[in-house]
Amino acid sequence: MENIKIITTEDGSHSLYHEGLKETYHSFHGALQESVHVFIEKGLRFWRTKSGLPKQVDIFEVGFGTGLNALLTAQFAIDNEVKINFTTIEPYPLDMEIIDQLNYATSIGQDNLKTVFKELHSCKWEENIEISPYFSIHKIKSKLEDFQTDQRFDVLFFDAFAPSKQAELWTADLLQKCFSLLREGGVFTTYSAKGQLKRDLKSVGFEVETLPGPPGKKEMVRGIVN
Ligand SMILES: C[S@@+](CC[C@H](N)C(=O)[O-])C[C@H]1O[C@@H](n2cnc3c(N)ncnc32)[C@H](O)[C@@H]1O
Repeated sequence: MENIKIITTEDGSHSLYHEGLKETYHSFHGALQESVHVFIEKGLRFWRTKSGLPKQVDIFEVGFGTGLNALLTAQFAIDNEVKINFTTIEPYPLDMEIIDQLNYATSIGQDNLKTVFKELHSCKWEENIEISPYFSIHKIKSKLEDFQTDQRFDVLFFDAFAPSKQAELWTADLLQKCFSLLREGGVFTTYSAKGQLKRDLKSVGFEVETLPGPPGKKEMVRGIVN
């Protein structure tokens, strides 16, 4: 993958730079900090707390990419002894040569996560794979535009490239699709806080909240199906 380069973000964790899009996979202020804040804390932990700490969570992610969100979710599942089923879509899987160089387990401070991280990437696509008693992953090679399922989820991690780089993924039509993928009480979380995104989320039925962003970013957005 000649057009993808590894970079180190301000918290010491790696990210990738896509030369074609001129865009990074995470905030350059800190990839790990961003993923923990936006997806784990304001998405997964928030949904679980408000739902009375259920013992199972079904998550859907748009954009598997480096697998950082999946790794952090697997860690959350093990630490909290909660069963998490993680479904993720990605039309452009990364080469193992890149994945092998990413420092996420070390950045998290748990070298034992290295094996989990490797398994998340090496396991088969299009199948439900049990990575641990608490975490299963189903990777689907698809664009959000083409993805179809009857399944419904509790939490949706919307981690597409920024609206300025990939506007076609942030349309009201696709946000409507995200709304339909969630159960009653479900939570949509993303790092962007664009005004148009908030208006579109409202227009498709979400209750919209603007929250403080991760370090280096003022705001982020969460949508709730109520
Ligand atoms: C901002 S990156 C984040 C990826 C990942 N969550 C991570 O932490 O590395 C966006 C991801 O969306 C993927 N993507 C691009 N087009 C897409 C589409 N049409 N549908 C779903 N995902 C897409 C990209 O290939 C990339 O992996």
